[in-house]
Amino acid sequence: MNTSSNSQAWKNLFQHHEDNVDLSLIKRFNANPERGNQLSFSCGDLWIDVSKQSIDAQTTELLFQLAREQGVNDFFHSMSKGDVVNLSEEEAALHTSLRNPLPPEMVKKNLGQMKELHEKLKNGHLVGSSGKKICSVVNLGIGGSQLGSFMAFEALKDYGNPELEVRWSSGLDIADLDDALIGLDPEQTIVVVCSKTFNTFETLSTARRTQNWFLEGGVSNFSSQMFAATSVPENALAFGIEAENIFSFSSSIGGRFSLASPVSLGLMLSIGYENFDDMLQGMHLIDTDVLANDKSVPLLLGLIDVWNRSVLGANSLAVVPYSYRLREFSSYLQQLMMESLGKSISSTGESIEIETGMAVWGANGTDAQHSFFQALHQGTETMPIDLIGFARLSDKANDELIANLIAQAQTLAFGQDLTKDADSFSEYEILPGNRPSTVILAPELSPNILGQLIALYEHRTVATGVVWGINPFDQWGVEYGKKSALRIVDELKNSEVSSSHDSSTKSLIARYKHWRND
Ligand code: F6P
Repeated sequence: MNTSSNSQAWKNLFQHHEDNVDLSLIKRFNANPERGNQLSFSCGDLWIDVSKQSIDAQTTELLFQLAREQGVNDFFHSMSKGDVVNLSEEEAALHTSLRNPLPPEMVKKNLGQMKELHEKLKNGHLVGSSGKKICSVVNLGIGGSQLGSFMAFEALKDYGNPELEVRWSSGLDIADLDDALIGLDPEQTIVVVCSKTFNTFETLSTARRTQNWFLEGGVSNFSSQMFAATSVPENALAFGIEAENIFSFSSSIGGRFSLASPVSLGLMLSIGYENFDDMLQGMHLIDTDVLANDKSVPLLLGLIDVWNRSVLGANSLAVVPYSYRLREFSSYLQQLMMESLGKSISSTGESIEIETGMAVWGANGTDAQHSFFQALHQGTETMPIDLIGFARLSDKANDELIANLIAQAQTLAFGQDLTKDADSFSEYEILPGNRPSTVILAPELSPNILGQLIALYEHRTVATGVVWGINPFDQWGVEYGKKSALRIVDELKNSEVSSSHDSSTKSLIARYKHWRND
């Protein structure tokens, strides 16, 4: 695995860029009227148009050559077989096994238990310790233990049980949990504590506060109303979760890849087992495509990310779903892509000379058009963007929404048509165009298609990481911060402040203590 750009495949790519540096998108389209169709692909039920990226057939061939050199498809097959691919943690990466129709025994058992719980809830047989019917679920978790399932919950709101109130809390700000609990009856509420390690400070803190909420609400025997989704069941047991309420999953499921795991119990209780299974089937459809096709679309999208980041020098990727319900998608992708790719050390411990790890951000359209599209159109920085649209949302066509998506892709690529009335535009009105975008269209935002979209981005992310020589499955960069925060918590609570701190940290601590004590 090569982590420097001195391989022939990298040299060919940089040379190719140099040879075509003046080739704008408008020139590419004028030279090839069929470009739009030639660079659009089906992947499952998704239609993916990469023709407005600064690439051509030769670019994609050189990128696939790089993928071959880096062994990306071999990596996908090793991952699927359960080999240790997460080298620094000596773990496999088994997220695709969660949606395999013939899953491992642990996955099958969990899915069976989740289905049973859903049946009990649906039939009104799931009751609290005082015998009242459960009608609300509070999900506690952070990062991969919340972002994916919360995103999917919002995306599939049309499929949710309107009689079940589902709330989410992730952070230490007391308002976060207060808002999640407001108006709920402790006697009719279950809590799902989602934490792969069951050792995350924020999640255990909110779980303890929720136990106090139960007690203050007259529910002394709350243990039957608390569930856990974790890969460390012994920690959940020690915390006081009953064994039969613990859904344990493999430690080889990465947090940001765990959406199909029991951390989505709250999601599944809302949309029902059938819809949850349909989402898993959509994921599996893309999983099989990636294994069957050495030039799969998820791989191509990952390679285009490599091209835009490492060769063209774009340092961010905007993701704009033209769907209100999918508005949490960019937040979910921020962790999936930035916690996987924001690294400068290779999976074998060497420093990486190639630019990696673009910033991932976004919001839902057309709101985003009234927020940051000015910068996308006329900023000095070229920022690639994914525009995602659905022919039907909430079972209705949405001409205006899709018209905006298509118009934005066109304007970003070509600017205005200055040949018509160039002198009617003042300088500050000129849209330079040549801004790359990928358009992803789907028939509807169904559980199956959401599953396809999630798996598309998961495999895209892994492909990009492997091309860069990165381990997409560890996150050592965030471990140290957790420990240093605990040390400072201790200093804030006691009078002793470490003399070894820098002057800024010392003055921030003093300023906080001064205001806190007021
Ligand atoms: O952000 C670091 C991290 O470990 C993520 O990778 C993970 O999704 C999140 O914290 C929560 O971890 P856990 O599921 O163990 O509570």
